[in-house]
Amino acid sequence: MPSFPRLVAVLICCSGPLFAQPLRDLAVPRGVRIGTAVNPSRLSEELYADTLSREFNQVEPENALKFGPVHPSPAEYNFGPPDSLAAFASGHKMVMRGHTLVWHRQNPAWVTSGQHTPAELASILQEHIKAVVGHYAGKVYAWDVVNEGFNDDGSMRSTLWFDAPGIGLKGTGYIEQALRWAHAADPRALLFYNDYSAEWVNPKSDAIYKMAQDFQSRGVPLDGVGLQMHLTANAQPLAGMEANIKRITDLGLQVQITELDVRLPVEAEGKAAGPALATQAQIYQDIVALCLKYSRCTAIQTWGFTDKYSWIPGSFRGTGAALEFDAVYQPKPAYNAIQTALRSATRK
Ligand code: XIL
Repeated sequence: MPSFPRLVAVLICCSGPLFAQPLRDLAVPRGVRIGTAVNPSRLSEELYADTLSREFNQVEPENALKFGPVHPSPAEYNFGPPDSLAAFASGHKMVMRGHTLVWHRQNPAWVTSGQHTPAELASILQEHIKAVVGHYAGKVYAWDVVNEGFNDDGSMRSTLWFDAPGIGLKGTGYIEQALRWAHAADPRALLFYNDYSAEWVNPKSDAIYKMAQDFQSRGVPLDGVGLQMHLTANAQPLAGMEANIKRITDLGLQVQITELDVRLPVEAEGKAAGPALATQAQIYQDIVALCLKYSRCTAIQTWGFTDKYSWIPGSFRGTGAALEFDAVYQPKPAYNAIQTALRSATRK
């Protein structure tokens, strides 16, 4: 017969998933924030809200602050959904990131089809940034000011805001201008440039690095670079990722991992095979450990947290199961791997 205290310990430990140390509690002593993208309309689902507040100390609306959703017509701002997330965050001692002010996707028709001149577009964007960043001053601590401005070959992406028709500025000028407008609207917010496939050293991350270096040297208000990290279960170029994080943080800038997920091949019901889940767990562990090596890598955020609501199956056919909780909110091997990395981290 086990002794009474031992019996109690066994019952507590082994009668269900062990959340004795939620991710956020492990992250705090490491000086890193652990975040997730959130759909505010899901906050009324008890398991969603409970898991979110138990495990994370940072949130970011997945869509609700993009130009189209938040500013659907010229005089209308739809702050209700992101406000509800901001209230949830402050009620649970979480911080909020804002995503995103300038992007080529999810813009409203009144902006994209309005036949605006560059001068008109410039004033639309300035007003938008002023209104949105101003509304969340003191509530959103960091903004993805510009999202996905470069092509994979390092050239500037042709977009409404850059050159089609653009706001009338050459090169990285429109990115600089957006940063300056955001800084004017909330001088205390941290301002990020965010992109995908720029995690390791390659032509795109070289272009971002060059821009960051230029902005730093001229005092343009850029505080960091967001690395999205929508990964597959293929071997990841970890050394190249480390070299990239090192060079950005060596400039004195922060790095935040902003949209981490690791998609897997899945069968019809959306389930992945055991070995794939183990490979996925290792990738999560490696990425968390990598961020934790650099004290200026200040946040690790996944793009959602439950496979129930991930964007992956809708965007990458035949894949899914990309997050750390399964579709019924049970922790996956990836969750345990994040815990392991947080527990054993050393910081530079
Ligand atoms: C995605 C959302 O997850 C989807 O719900 C939406 O339909 C499209 O956008 N990079 C980004 C995110 O910066 O904003 C994208 O989010 C995913 C890729």
